[in-house]
Amino acid sequence: MLSDWEPPKSFAKYEHIKVKRIAGTIGAEISGVNIAEDLPNEVIDEITGALNEHHVIFFRDQDLPPKRQAAFASRFGPLIPYPMVKGLDGTDEVVPVVKLPEERVNFGGIWHADTTYLEEPPMGALLYAVELPPYGGDTLFANMHLAYETLSPSLQGYLETLTVIQNSAKAEVTRTREDRIKGDGGKRMQLVAEHPAVITHPRTGRKALYVNSGHTERFKELTLEESEPILKFLFNHLSRPEFTCRFVWTPGSLAFWDNYATQHNPINDYHGFKRVMHRVTVGGGRPQLQQQAAE
Ligand code: SIN
Repeated sequence: MLSDWEPPKSFAKYEHIKVKRIAGTIGAEISGVNIAEDLPNEVIDEITGALNEHHVIFFRDQDLPPKRQAAFASRFGPLIPYPMVKGLDGTDEVVPVVKLPEERVNFGGIWHADTTYLEEPPMGALLYAVELPPYGGDTLFANMHLAYETLSPSLQGYLETLTVIQNSAKAEVTRTREDRIKGDGGKRMQLVAEHPAVITHPRTGRKALYVNSGHTERFKELTLEESEPILKFLFNHLSRPEFTCRFVWTPGSLAFWDNYATQHNPINDYHGFKRVMHRVTVGGGRPQLQQQAAE
């Protein structure tokens, strides 16, 4: 239960970067590092440590042309192109995320983990702010470890027996994402994958809830009618304010989120203004649930 939860007492020791929490349960700002440089492995290891500890990390005042953003991202895993989108500046992987003044729908404007309808969904994404509206356009992040850990043991156990069907063509998200990026004359692609409803984080071994309102259609083992009320409860539960942080962007800031440990939701509250972001996605393999050996 959340009422029993306390922030970890012993924090990792950072020698090369400064790490400052921005909320009680998720998110930290990293300073003292220029991520446009070719950083030594010790610094990359500390940044990975901060990501493991805080699940989404933020850097400010960085000068990151697309190639430098791709170079930094590639230190954390293989870069993967976003389905159906062309890369910027000769890169295959840095894609624009843009909302124009006349547009009403923003990209990915719903609680979601990224592209969980892929057989191998990304382990993370790095989003860089290029042009921002004068107000609004913040992004919310939520902690999926806590979302899982605060369920009752009975529901945790039951969810661990279930598989989720993840679909790229779920109505709410196609409005906000795939329809926006398919391009003129592009055909809508429907991608479907099955994943455990609870996954074990590959780096930390901590379990995380792996259903999201953007892409999760139903549980494979249940009917749609049976799945819906459980999913509705979980979608509400996972975005409880105490599991979240809110990042207020400034030009040159970068968010790096762990897609196995978090969900995010960009707030669409800046109609009439332009917002331009550059995004890179890092691959991580197929999410698994590792069952503990019986005692
Ligand atoms: C996304 O879902 O990747 C976009 C997040 C944002 O624009 O803040």
